[in-house]
Amino acid sequence: MTILTTKRLRLEPITDAHFEGLFAMNSDPAVMRYITGKADTREDTQAMIERVKARWLEYGFSWWSFFERESNQLIGAGCIQYLGRDPANPLEIGWRLRQDKWRQGFASEAAEVMAAFAFDHLHADQLWAVCHPENAASAHVMQKLGMQFRGVQRWYDQDTATYTMSSDDWKARSVAKASAR
Ligand SMILES: CC(C)(COP(=O)(O)OP(=O)(O)OC[C@H]1O[C@@H](n2cnc3c(N)ncnc32)[C@H](O)[C@@H]1OP(=O)(O)O)[C@@H](O)C(=O)NCCC(=O)NCCS
Repeated sequence: MTILTTKRLRLEPITDAHFEGLFAMNSDPAVMRYITGKADTREDTQAMIERVKARWLEYGFSWWSFFERESNQLIGAGCIQYLGRDPANPLEIGWRLRQDKWRQGFASEAAEVMAAFAFDHLHADQLWAVCHPENAASAHVMQKLGMQFRGVQRWYDQDTATYTMSSDDWKARSVAKASAR
């Protein structure tokens, strides 16, 4: 199971040991506002952990917890998973953070390394991301990653703003970033 690192974060595959940190985040209605629309119960978070552990074993990718390296605290979570949780679909990238850690660039930092994992390690052809049409923060992370808006589509029983990028987009972006350095 793959641990990813960035300048400020360590992304660890979710385990039972992350329960309290994940529940603290998922039980905040502000965090869940555009995801399920309601705070997680302890049972919801436990069920998520069980689902995710099974996916890591079956597919070799799923959700990571984000640990801030400086404090060693769990400050967020993110995923590479099959869109709609259906292996017939392309891969999706997703993220959420504890509210006190918003707007400090953490989601974008984690998104870079998760997208690199999807394209460079899993050799994905495409990466998708979906969010509630009013979730400006999440849409910004998608745009900053280089994803393009493809309209509103129905996913997870919701109308969602849908963004995609291809492996060619990712390669072109990596080349452009390297030459800008
Ligand atoms: C979505 C979320 C993960 C974004 O995390 P974040 O670390 O604050 O995002 P970043 O700091 O990397 O910001 C990325 C860009 O979006 C912008 N942005 C962040 N929050 C914003 C907001 N509320 N409104 C408008 N723009 C916003 C930032 O300014 C930044 O752009 P910039 O670099 O040009 O300034 C965070 O808001 C969150 O956890 N929300 C609740 C859970 C959620 O909805 N997850 C997504 C489900 S699809």
